[in-house]
Amino acid sequence: MSELNKIALKIISNGKGILAADESNATMTKRLESVNITSTPENRLLFREIIFSSKNMKECIGGVILYDETINQITSFGKSIPDLISSSDTIPGIKVDTGAKDLANSSEEKITEGLDGLRERLKKYYKLGARFTKWRGVYALSDRYPSELAIHSNAHALARYSALVQENGMVPIVEPEVLMDGDHSADLCLRKTSEVIKRCFEELILNKVDLSGIILKPNMILAGNKSKNKISNEEVSQKTLECLKNSVPSEVPGIAFLSGGQSEIEATENLNLINKNNNTKFIMTYSYGRALQKSALKKWSKNIKDREPTQNTFNHRAKMCSLAAKGKWSKELEYK
Ligand code: 13P
Repeated sequence: MSELNKIALKIISNGKGILAADESNATMTKRLESVNITSTPENRLLFREIIFSSKNMKECIGGVILYDETINQITSFGKSIPDLISSSDTIPGIKVDTGAKDLANSSEEKITEGLDGLRERLKKYYKLGARFTKWRGVYALSDRYPSELAIHSNAHALARYSALVQENGMVPIVEPEVLMDGDHSADLCLRKTSEVIKRCFEELILNKVDLSGIILKPNMILAGNKSKNKISNEEVSQKTLECLKNSVPSEVPGIAFLSGGQSEIEATENLNLINKNNNTKFIMTYSYGRALQKSALKKWSKNIKDREPTQNTFNHRAKMCSLAAKGKWSKELEYK
């Protein structure tokens, strides 16, 4: 077993998943302002140190993805953020892309940037304690998109990123996110997501990336959020499994889904069904941002000094996601 494969498995095995706490300052500002909290470095740190100190981190969270600001911060009790995360036997990770920019010659689509100077930044993050990384490619979905150009360009960037990350001893999370915005059908999402993922693996193989040392972070197969033809949770799980079975090489150790705008319960229920119906060899778990933190953030905003209610809310969400990662979640446990 390679060292990278061991790290990947430690992050996602035994009902553990990933906490995606890597919101950029711009995104975190939106999240904080939505609950009437001012976005300062101190407030961003306070919310995150409360979450990362929660009891269920140890049992439920195998890895935390951080943003550059956070990985460099020191908690109010004097520990560095990577040390705080490691104290729960959880692995610190870091978002290394620099964001999705307009794609030249296809202005309604995006290309993710961040390859320039990446090798040097990776060395710095390794020294700070990071052992895995994230890069998110984002694809619009409609009858015209994603274009061949967007599929090709993002796959190329994800593969070059992954090769550099492995060269520096870390596990790349490969995240091609086909967005749920729009009125598209679930079948179009299935077709296009399959195409996007297949192209990513073609490029990863071309770049000689060790597929046993990556984690794939895809979207689930859903109808668009404006579609009139929503599908059931059972169908989401079936179509998601069909997509991954047909497009992911067997060496990949595991798949950690993004929540992508699903509600906390929806993301949990869908993951649970995916695991109940899992007819693949892949570990299927979560790498949720909003679906792990939304209600905790709301709770925290009532009194930002009061840690316990926020931690209780997060602990419950983390536990429910962990049960879903084993196919053992139920509505009774959720609302108990
Ligand atoms: P969400 O689960 O909120 O979609 O965030 C996951 C993520 O990391 C998106 O890049």
